[in-house]
Amino acid sequence: MGIGPLRDKVAIITGGSSGIGAATARAMAAEGMHLVLAARRADRLKTVAAALEGLGSRVVTVEMDVAAVGASASLLDAAERAFGRFDVVFANAGYGLERAHHETTDEALRHMFEVNFFASTDLVTQASRRLIAQGRPGHMLMCSSCLAKFTIPYFGAYAATKAAQSMMCRAMRFELEPHGIEVSSVHPVTTTTEFFEQAAVRSGRASQGRKVPDHAPKFFVQPPERVARAIVACLKRPRSEVWTSLSIRLAAGFITAFPGVFDFACRREAARSREALKG
Ligand SMILES: NC(=O)c1ccc[n+]([C@@H]2O[C@H](COP(=O)([O-])OP(=O)(O)OC[C@H]3O[C@@H](n4cnc5c(N)ncnc54)[C@H](OP(=O)(O)O)[C@@H]3O)[C@@H](O)[C@H]2O)c1
Repeated sequence: MGIGPLRDKVAIITGGSSGIGAATARAMAAEGMHLVLAARRADRLKTVAAALEGLGSRVVTVEMDVAAVGASASLLDAAERAFGRFDVVFANAGYGLERAHHETTDEALRHMFEVNFFASTDLVTQASRRLIAQGRPGHMLMCSSCLAKFTIPYFGAYAATKAAQSMMCRAMRFELEPHGIEVSSVHPVTTTTEFFEQAAVRSGRASQGRKVPDHAPKFFVQPPERVARAIVACLKRPRSEVWTSLSIRLAAGFITAFPGVFDFACRREAARSREALKG
């Protein structure tokens, strides 16, 4: 069903200050949509917003931590105050850790779940309740990952947050269908954003100053614009999952069917990462 023509529709994007969120905002603005962008770095939000306004979009920026108490409600209020409505919510804010789990603190694990899983689930849930009360259709998306379907060494905790998002979207999709609300999960592969630099710093290492670290597999690297195009395509023709790599999608199925075969790749990957993360 979907939300119909995109022109003049209003989208809320968390994590709109960089990477996939900013690229998606640009792609939506190019379709004539208006944007509400949220993140912690106000200066970066303003820079993204200025470029979108150049494309003819109306943009509101909200400086916020998605994990703060009351964050979802105040973001939805900001959208309704500015535009009187919202049609799309892209719960995209998130981050990763690249660390052995036995060396990760309980606090770090819980914080990542707060930002990646609880905050995105809360936003989509509260947004859906408002749309149901207003009797309006909408489209909810969460930025999960290809690592929702399998994991690699040193990314276990991150993958767990992404799998949780993916499962929640799957179920909510059919729970909200009778209300005319679409739900989709987005499953990017390695994307050239600030993600890996942030993951290194949050894991207690210096950033290599590269979008993708040396030890990461390079075959599947994509720019954020690729993800953004796929998200816009999903708004036009809704589906449950947004993928940008057929090979990784097929690999995920293979790994589920033959986990023992994937153990070989994981062991090799673990050795490479162990070496790289020493420095
Ligand atoms: N890059 C990849 O390879 C890849 C692959 C699969 C999935 N993903 C997912 O894609 C999503 C976007 O990441 P990205 O790759 O675009 O990385 P990015 O460039 O680091 O962007 C992350 C965004 O999330 C925001 N954010 C982080 N913590 C936040 C918080 N507590 N409150 C509000 N905003 C917060 C950041 O804004 P501020 O710092 O300004 O708050 C930033 O805008 C994430 O959910 C990530 O898990 C990324």
